[in-house]
This record gives sequence, C-alpha cells and structure tokens, in this order.
Amino acid sequence: MARILSFSIFRYNPGDPASAPRLDNFLLDESDRMTLFIALTRLREEQDASLQFDFCCRAGICGACGMVINGRPGLACHTKTKDLPKEITLLPLPGFDLVADLSVDTGKWFRAMYRRVESWVHTDKAFDPAAEEERMDNALAEQIYELERCIECGCCVSACGTSRMRPDFLGAAGLNRIARFMIDPRDERTDSDYFDLVGNDEGVFGCMGLLACEDICPKEIPLQDQLGILRRKMAFTAVKDIFRMKEKGKKK
Ligand code: SF4
Ligand code: SF4
Ligand code: FES
Repeated sequence: MARILSFSIFRYNPGDPASAPRLDNFLLDESDRMTLFIALTRLREEQDASLQFDFCCRAGICGACGMVINGRPGLACHTKTKDLPKEITLLPLPGFDLVADLSVDTGKWFRAMYRRVESWVHTDKAFDPAAEEERMDNALAEQIYELERCIECGCCVSACGTSRMRPDFLGAAGLNRIARFMIDPRDERTDSDYFDLVGNDEGVFGCMGLLACEDICPKEIPLQDQLGILRRKMAFTAVKDIFRMKEKGKKK
C-alpha cells in the first residue's frame, strides 16, 4: 500500500517583511519511483503555489537542487522518497544567502570563491589562435577532469563544520578548485603563489579534516585525497619559505 508522506518544509521569504521563519506541514501520497523533485513539484502544483525551491536538470548535473534532507545535505532530484522514512523534513542549505523557502543563492558564494582562488589558468604565454592546440597526457587530462566534475551544489560547504564557524572559509569546493589548477601544467603559478592564496586559516589550514564534505559530495569527488595533498604541499611550502627567509637574512 502506498505510504502517505508527511513533509515539514522550511518557509521564509527574507524579502517580504510580513514573512517569519516557520515549518509548514504537507501530506502527500507516495508514488512509484518518486523523487523529492517530483514530490515538491506536486506539492507546489496541488497544495501551495507559493512554495519556492530550485531545479533545473533533474539529473544531478546542474547542482541547483541542494537542500538539507532529514538533516543531511543532498540533491533533491537524486533522492528517492522510498529511501527516506515517511516523515521528511526539508531545510535550505546553510552557509548561503537565502532566496526564499528552500531556494538559496549558491551562485553568489561560488562567484566570490572563484575570484578569491583566481580560478583561471595563469600564464604569460601570448595566445596564438593559429597555433595547434597544446597536447596533454591522457592520464593527466583525466586527473584534471576528475576535479572539474564539481556541479557547485554547495552540499560540501553546508556539511562543513569549519564553514559554519568561519564564513570566509574556502570550503572543500574552493580547495578542490586550487588542487585542479595545481596539477594543470599550463598554469605557471608556483607553490608560493598558491600558498599566498590558501596557506591560511580561511584556506587549507582551517580544514579540520573530518571529511563530512567527502561523505556528502553527490558526485563522489575525491575531496579527501585533494585536501591531504594540498595540506602537505602547503605545509612544505611554508617550511621552505621560512628557510629561504633565514638564508636571505644571513646574506645581508
Ligand atoms: S574535511 Fe575540511 S573542508 Fe571537509 S568538511 Fe571537514 S573541515 Fe570542511
Ligand atoms: S565538491 Fe561535491 S559537494 Fe561540493 S559543491 Fe562540488 S559537487 Fe557539490
Ligand atoms: S535539478 Fe539539477 S542537480 Fe538536481
């Protein structure tokens, strides 16, 4: 027999002075292969047209549908109701500006993060449109692609204890972005340049390494490996820079 699902959904519109944060309750009959995307769409069509949430691809690609599902950040379009108990609580992802109800502005956070980590290939080579495309070793291209699979859903940021305490923390998504450029041979930045960007408590040294980010990432990006590599590399760079400064001091 089909279950009757009982939803508690966060409601608040910060742009509406009459709105106050609350949980609204809805009942919905469960259907075969129902996802939270289907459930929310039905709730909006059948019960409350003002319910706000974000979706685009419905296939785990756009990253728009991140929300806290029974206490755990995840993608609503990828979550089947049959895998949840019949009481379902949905909250917006913390750590991002709230648009309304379950909709948050992850774009603003990611844009700021990309600016901070200077998320582009840094090179002094002049671009020659007539030149043949530079070749790259297949294995290395795949390694870079692996780290490019982030869909910017924000789930890792919401799950991260450091991000909760330190709003300017780059988060696993930001550190993963740096790791991606570090292995790209076209990027001419040195370890010291990267250290200037992330060798601090808002970057790699703020990470507590408890790996909620990796547990939660819906794309299964190897965040644990990247955070470990980055931490070791930045610690090594810090020690090297200390010795370099001491050497300079002796020569004066
Ligand atoms: S391992 Fe680091 S980035 Fe990942 S959740 Fe923990 S503190 Fe955040
Ligand atoms: S690293 Fe994973 S959890 Fe974090 S934003 Fe990218 S896809 Fe989402
Ligand atoms: S709607 Fe695109 S990831 Fe869920």
